[in-house]
Amino acid sequence: MIPEKIENLLKKYGQEHLLRYFGEIDEEGRAGLLSQIAGIDFERVSGLFLTASGAVQQESKEHKYEPVPFTDKKNLSKEAIEAYEKTGGEIISRGGFAALTMAGGQGTRLGHNGPKGTYDIGLPGHPSLFEIQCGRLLEASKKYGKTIPWYIMTSRENDADTKAFFKAHGFFGYPEEDIKFFVQNMLPMVAFDGKIVLDRKDHIKEGADGHGGVFAALKSSGCYDDMLKRGVKWVFIGGIDNVLLKLCDPLLIGFAEKSGAKIAAKSLVKRDAHEGVGVFCKRDGKPYVIEYTEISDEMADARRGDGSFLYGDAHVLCNLFSIESIGGVVESGGGLPYHVARKKTQYIDANGNIATPEKPNAYKFEAFIFDAFEYFSDIAILRVDRESEFAPVKNKEGEDSPESARRMYEENLRRENEQR
Ligand code: UTP
Repeated sequence: MIPEKIENLLKKYGQEHLLRYFGEIDEEGRAGLLSQIAGIDFERVSGLFLTASGAVQQESKEHKYEPVPFTDKKNLSKEAIEAYEKTGGEIISRGGFAALTMAGGQGTRLGHNGPKGTYDIGLPGHPSLFEIQCGRLLEASKKYGKTIPWYIMTSRENDADTKAFFKAHGFFGYPEEDIKFFVQNMLPMVAFDGKIVLDRKDHIKEGADGHGGVFAALKSSGCYDDMLKRGVKWVFIGGIDNVLLKLCDPLLIGFAEKSGAKIAAKSLVKRDAHEGVGVFCKRDGKPYVIEYTEISDEMADARRGDGSFLYGDAHVLCNLFSIESIGGVVESGGGLPYHVARKKTQYIDANGNIATPEKPNAYKFEAFIFDAFEYFSDIAILRVDRESEFAPVKNKEGEDSPESARRMYEENLRRENEQR
């Protein structure tokens, strides 16, 4: 039996096709499909589709962009670095610091069968990406005499596998009570004709709602309250796929604390004018990351007198948020704007068969964490070296692949050993 409420809901939003195969699927499939439907906010999805398809025009506003100040780590004196590290170290020792890893992405480009964090890039001992991060946090916890609470964001798609992986590996030696997994929201994908995609007769194609979903998920999962209860003051939020990510850097923490800003980030100099990265700037006076798809050629190539890029500081998911700043975003609903991507996704065709398109066929909606920066008047940016802080694992081969990340990891280790 299809509940009348659901039938009416689907009719109201023109999504009756979601139950077209209801008669053909088994009990379990029916229950799953109905529960997916019950979890969808159709009003929101319909609004997102109308904007994505251009049926509803977004108010276009002229913005004023300006460069944003930054501090280059290279120009800091030894004494300044030591002083920041001392301040940061004290915060960590007092239990005022937590780390958060966003691991809810689908890792489609890598094409790994399982959560991206379980991937082994082929280092000696074969640590997974999760184990590499865990090792860094274990080391810092030991150094500062305080276990760093570690929050790990998953998605409904990979939550069970992620937890099972940690369990199977004894949580890599990390105190289990100090790791908290929490699940981000999902949004259905919508075909270009406005119909929500069924990728099986009994299943709606949903995708994680982007790394910007972290704020809403922190609130709904109770993790934000857990941070408050633990007396956390600063939270580092990073991705799972940068093998050189310093999740607990006392320099960044001390630098942020002393800056007076509520948020901080590390940046890297972009390689060339059109590298596919977002760059920091100020938009209408507020910190902002302008995506490479949004930036004008003129802005992308604008230079200072010394030839350096005016908008040259790339955002690489290396952000530190004060607990007040997280509170500010979550209390205002945690909702950031959604960006639209046109993606290829499997669907059920007119004959009821599973089809794989050759071209993008549906919209995917994702929120980006850096859209939260606009909530604040300032951001403290610390420019660091790419070689020692950024080795992403994005693609199967070539640039930003397991192979390039492994090479950078090993080169960095060699440099560190030489400096010791
Ligand atoms: P990316 O945007 O590079 O996505 O995520 P991805 O899922 O790893 O890979 P593709 O684009 O599908 O190939 C950067 C970081 O943000 C996390 C990812 O897990 C990764 O650590 N992320 C991304 C989430 O936690 N949730 C999301 O919805 C999206």
